[in-house]
Amino acid sequence: MGENLPAHIAVIMDGNGRWAEARGLPRREGHRAGAEVVRRVITECRAAGIRHVTLYAFSSENWGRPKAEVRHLFSLLKEFLDREIPLMEQKGIALNVLGDTAALPLGARAAVSRGIKRTSGGVEMTFNLALNYGARAELVRAARSFVREGASPGDVTEQSLAGRLYTVGQPDPDLLIRTGGERRLSNFLLYQCAYAELYFTPVLWPDFKEEHLRAALEDYAARSRRFGKI
Ligand code: FPP
Repeated sequence: MGENLPAHIAVIMDGNGRWAEARGLPRREGHRAGAEVVRRVITECRAAGIRHVTLYAFSSENWGRPKAEVRHLFSLLKEFLDREIPLMEQKGIALNVLGDTAALPLGARAAVSRGIKRTSGGVEMTFNLALNYGARAELVRAARSFVREGASPGDVTEQSLAGRLYTVGQPDPDLLIRTGGERRLSNFLLYQCAYAELYFTPVLWPDFKEEHLRAALEDYAARSRRFGKI
């Protein structure tokens, strides 16, 4: 590895519920197992030398899930951050959030801002968590910021638009992985993934291990990226 390594990997973590149901467990056990995989994947990406990782942890559509499941997801997030932030700080991993955190439950919101503050000096890797994120809402937010500033048509360029997205200053994802067998983008990083290589795997997120990540990286390394050129 090392050659043709993506600078930025984005992941749609899907299949927690099915993983749990297949074992006769409540769905929340699938999310719990999924959170453990988050830790392992971040560690493996850091070891491989990947500088930016973005995980889709909660979409703006996920509010439509049963209240108890939503509550559980945010309490898992808080638990995860409280436990992992000291380690991230130690390893030089900066936490960043994509999405509108204002609507998050208070405890989770506080854990997120604590985490961002404590890890802000991290230069080894940026770990983006997409929370209450939707790509269309992100583009609307960017458009509104132009209007608020009284921008003229010429001020709106690909660069200035990218500068108003949550991923400002970061390279676009080179590789987008979706686990759980579905083959769609689900309103995730639509602008930033214009040239991303897509990798779909039937493996359910709680089963996604280091070897699966390595397989995705090998698949990526073998692809020829032309960015529309010959
Ligand atoms: C999809 O599985 C996964 C999610 C909606 C959220 C992902 C959350 C985690 C991995 C756990 C908490 C996150 C962190 C960062 C600690 P699904 O429920 O849609 O699965 P299904 O398609 O099988 O029903």
